[in-house]
Formats: sequence, structure tokens, C-alpha cells
Amino acid sequence: MGKDARTIEALLKENRSFPPPPAFAAAANARDNDLYREGESTEEFWGREAARLHWFRRWDRVLEWDYPLAWWFNGGTLNASYNCLDRHVETWRRNKAAIIWEGEPGDAVVLTYRDLYREVNKFAAVLRSLGVKRDDRVAIYLPMIPELPIAMLACARIGAVHNVVFGGFSAAALRDRINDIGAKILITADGGFRKGRIVGLKESADSALDGAPSIERVIVAKRTGERVNMQPGRDLWWHELMAAAPLYTPPEHMEAEDPLFILHTSGTTGKPKGVVHTTGGYLVGTATTSHYIFDLKDEDVYWCTADIGWITGHSYVVYGPLANGATVLMYEGSLDYPQPDRSWQIIEKYGVTIFYTAPTAIRSFMRSGPSYPARHDLSSLRLLGSVGEPINPEAWMWYYNYIGHRRCPIVDTWWQTETGMILISPLPGLTPLKPGSACRPFPGIEAAIVDERGEPVPRGKGGYLVIKKPWPAMMRTIFGDPDRYVNQYWNRIPGYYFTGDGARQDEDGYFWLLGRVDDVINVSGHRLGTMEVESALVDHPDVAEAAVISREHEIKGQTIVAFVTLKDNVQATPELARKIKEHVVEKIGALARPDDIFFTAELPKTRSGKIMRRLLRDVAEGRALGDISTLADPATVAKLKKAYADEA
Ligand code: PRX
Repeated sequence: MGKDARTIEALLKENRSFPPPPAFAAAANARDNDLYREGESTEEFWGREAARLHWFRRWDRVLEWDYPLAWWFNGGTLNASYNCLDRHVETWRRNKAAIIWEGEPGDAVVLTYRDLYREVNKFAAVLRSLGVKRDDRVAIYLPMIPELPIAMLACARIGAVHNVVFGGFSAAALRDRINDIGAKILITADGGFRKGRIVGLKESADSALDGAPSIERVIVAKRTGERVNMQPGRDLWWHELMAAAPLYTPPEHMEAEDPLFILHTSGTTGKPKGVVHTTGGYLVGTATTSHYIFDLKDEDVYWCTADIGWITGHSYVVYGPLANGATVLMYEGSLDYPQPDRSWQIIEKYGVTIFYTAPTAIRSFMRSGPSYPARHDLSSLRLLGSVGEPINPEAWMWYYNYIGHRRCPIVDTWWQTETGMILISPLPGLTPLKPGSACRPFPGIEAAIVDERGEPVPRGKGGYLVIKKPWPAMMRTIFGDPDRYVNQYWNRIPGYYFTGDGARQDEDGYFWLLGRVDDVINVSGHRLGTMEVESALVDHPDVAEAAVISREHEIKGQTIVAFVTLKDNVQATPELARKIKEHVVEKIGALARPDDIFFTAELPKTRSGKIMRRLLRDVAEGRALGDISTLADPATVAKLKKAYADEA
């Protein structure tokens, strides 16, 4: 521990830089500084990169930009599943592994490109036979099993829009998402494995469907073999449908701007937003960044640990790598189950060469100690990645030393559900790395740090991170709420895309991300809105008012702390706190469970009625008011008020 503390000290003081290893640099996909050609414009650059895809019809214009709306590759037609499958099957890659899948219990399946192509074609036919047409929405609520990417690609093949709902979300959250988009079909499973336990997805799905009238059919994949309720006339087994399915389904010729998927993400209001991504720009953006940032080669075994239910899984487990013909490792379960060395065992077993994970995972690996990775041969690794939250320099160094053995560059990739693709990241063969910095914007991306009025802030000073120009994989709208899209992202700081993140740039122009500047909390790399959790809290019959804030956490980055006032005559007890936490889990999912609930007689508010979150944060982190126990007494409230009065 003492040694680690010294390491942090050292890091805070020095500005170390790690140049790319020469052998890596010599063979890297991104070699030419900037990747631009002499005199090339952003549009020309993206137009050139778009040629890495197969287009049924070439686009007329790379970009049409009518602020704040953008159309990329208008006039072009393509199909995402064709790009991820058919064109590889036509080459030697037909027998290359597309997906190496390992289940949590240790079972494994390898799907070659041809296998995956077959399954996707068949499942596309199944969807068609159930009446799914172009533009219909299909909800997918599956564990990390091969059926998940198969279902997504099958939707893409016939032009249906998929809406994947992370398997950790609750029935209520699934219901809200289905209703938000009016999905016609739900694809789920009899369950999944997580930390040795069975997650009952079908049960949740059944409860979600009580109140989701748009769903006509439910397709159930068999994973655990648990007995589940199958509603006659509504529920159908995946394997039975597939047994009778034809082997080929022609891919729809989609317009570049046709929607590919909707993925919900949390924002500053109580209701998650359905982020809409379209086909052409999204695929160009994810395929291009996968090629240059992950340096994908045909020999690689690439493992991104994100669940496909999040944007990282969409862009960098499914679409980006498969569009590049890569071999993708997909793992069902928890990274530390049954032992803290599960990840290292998987890397050794399959010879993983590229490993992309989240800082929260790295910090929990650190906690279990370097002896776990030391037991395994990690020499196959050549590149590491990080995503989801700022990586602290200490975790960066640990990752670099104990996992990469000082040989592997680390790409710290900054992006969002809304951006669709990585926007700020090192290029592993070109960029000297600084621990804790996401380094520089990707070629073609113009990022800046500005103040409230959109004026640039000087180097070294913190401000709002904005993007100044459109990029191909940018979200196009919020499903059903185009005004909210314009207001939230483009009207906050007029002229620019507002990311909601704070950042600063150092003297070398490197970007250092500072976390969210809005009411979004990042728990273990998962985004949650404070309002969303507050809505779940006040939904409990005993709760009158609630205020949610984040507290720093060693492993998770941030955790949720809730301040709650109770209705008249309700007793504040530890048992009630537990029940209220459980209620949040039921409304959203386990990821939203508050770490602590503080009962108070009143919430500190400004005269205009705004809750003073900063004050609550001080209370929660024990700063202003010293130690407080789970049950805050009225004196604490008095102190809260006094602190407020002193400040006002
Ligand atoms: O705050 C930033 C943080 O995660 C947010 C986006 O969350 P989400 O849409 O769920 O997508 C996560 C995966 C792309 C951002 O606004 N974030 C993501 N990557 C980084 C990051 N913060 C710092 N450094 C990163 N590399």
C-alpha cells in the first residue's frame, strides 16, 4: 500500500510521457500523422474512409449540414449486416472466427463468419415471417450470448430498428423503453448467468409486458434451461423458429440516413432518451475508429468487455470490429467470477491481443492485486484500451505495468452514447501517452474547451468540452422528441455540440476529462440521471421528497447517495432504507441502487426551491458537517440549513 501511495504522489507531480513502442509504430494502421492527405478537407477524409465499406449505391454528398442537423452520405445505400458479414464470407475470411464466445460457466462456442452469416440470415427470415418490416422497432433484452449480436444483425439485415435493453435493467425500465419506441417484437432468453447465479430475464420480460401493448410476439432464446412461462400465442422459442427458417434473406438496401438502432441513455430529466443512430455515418465512424484506434489486424483476437446493452458494446463489440472482419471475443459473465483472475485466464486461453475495458474494472483488478495477472501468460496482448469514465493515473500505471507489461500502448477513449464513435483518443502507433489523458481528438474531429458563452478558455483551465463540427456517427435525434435533441445538445452553447463533460487542455493540447458537469452520475462507467433515481425514490409510497447526489468511490468512481424526506407519520428505520433501495432497483435496476440513504426532515433548498446539491455532497462526503450516520438527526438538518444560511 505504501508503495502505491508513493506512486500516486509521483504521478501527481510529474508529467510522464510514453512514446509508442517502435515495433508497434512501424506496423500500426495509423502511421501518417493526422491521417489527412495534403490539402484534404474533413469531408474528403470521411469520404475516403467511407470506401472501406460496401455501398450498393455510392453517396452523392459526404455531408449536408444545416445547423444543427446533419446528413451524412446522402444518396448512398448500404446494409450494415452485409458489411459485417456477406462481404467477408465472399473472401478467405469465411472460415475465420467472427465471434469466440465464452459463457460464465466455462462453456464456449466459436462462430466463424460463415456461421454467423447463416444464423443472421435465418433469424432475419424468422423476423420477416413474424411480420417485421423495414422501420419496425424490435426490443432486445438478452444476456451476453451469441443470440444478441445475431438478433441485432438480423434486424439490420431487414431494415428493422433494434433497441437493445441492457439485461441488468428491471422490468419497469424495460417496459418504459418498449413503450417509448412502440416495439413490435421482444427478443429475450430464459435467463443468463451472472456471478454464478441465474438472472431471470423472462420473468422480468413477462412483468414488463404487462403494460406494453405494442409487443405482438416474444422470441425466447434458451440459455439456462430453466423452466419459464411461455404464453401461448405470444411466446415462441428461438430454436424452434430457427429450425424451420430458410438459409438466406436478401439484405435491404438502406438509405445512409435510415435509422439502424435506438439506444436509451440517461440525461438530466427523469426519462431516459432514445438516442437514434443511422446506418451510413454510424458504420463509417465505428469501422474507421476501430481500424485506427484498435489497430485491428486479421491476426488479432479482440476483446471488449462491455455488455452489448451499452453503446460500447454496439460500436466496439458488434459493428466496428465485425465491419473490419475482426475476431471478437465475447464473454457472458462477470470479469472476476469465480476468481479475480477470470479475465487473465480468458486472455491466456484464447491468446487475446487487444483488451478494452473500463477504469472501474481496472481498479477492482488493482484491489485484488498483481498476483492474479501474474499467474497467467499475458504475452499475447499488444494493445490495451479504457473507456467509460476518466481513468486515474494510478489505475493507468497499474494497467500499463501489470497487464501490458510496459509493452502495450493504452488507448484511453473518450466518447458517449450520443457520439456513437470514439472522438478523443490516442492513436496507438503515433501518440505519446500521458497517464490519465485521453490525448487528442480523432482526425476529422474538432473539439474545444469553452466557457458558458462559448468563448475558448486558456490552456490549463477547465471548461465545457464541446465539439465544433458534425461527425459521421453522431446521433441524429432523440426518438419522438426532436426539440429536446436540439435544445439539449445544440442550444446550450450555440454553435457547438454540448457534451455535458468538463475538461481541460494542457500545454501540449492534450485533453484531460474532468467528469460530468450536468446532473448525470457515472457509477462504474454506467450513466444514470439524478432525476431518474429521484423519480424512482419518490415513487415509493413512504417517500415525500428526494435528492440524489454522487459521492466519490474508490472502485466505482462514483456512487449514489440519496437524501429522503418521509411522508407524515412514517418512521425512519434502517429497514425502510433497505426497502426504498430495493424499490429503486425494481424501478431501474441494480446498477441504480443507492449506496446510502439519509433521512432528513427537510431538504436544503434555495429560496427559488432548487435543491442545494453541493451542500448535500459536502454532507455526504463528510466535509462541512463531519461524520454523519445513516439516520441523520434533526440537528444535522439544522446544520444543513445553517450552512446554507451562512453561504447565502
Ligand atoms: O462523462 C463521459 C464518460 O462517460 C460519458 C458517456 O457515457 P455513455 O454515454 O454511457 O458512454 C460510455 C461509453 C462511451 C461521457 O460523457 N466517459 C466516457 N469515456 C470516457 C469518459 N470520461 C473520461 N474519459 C473517458 N475515456
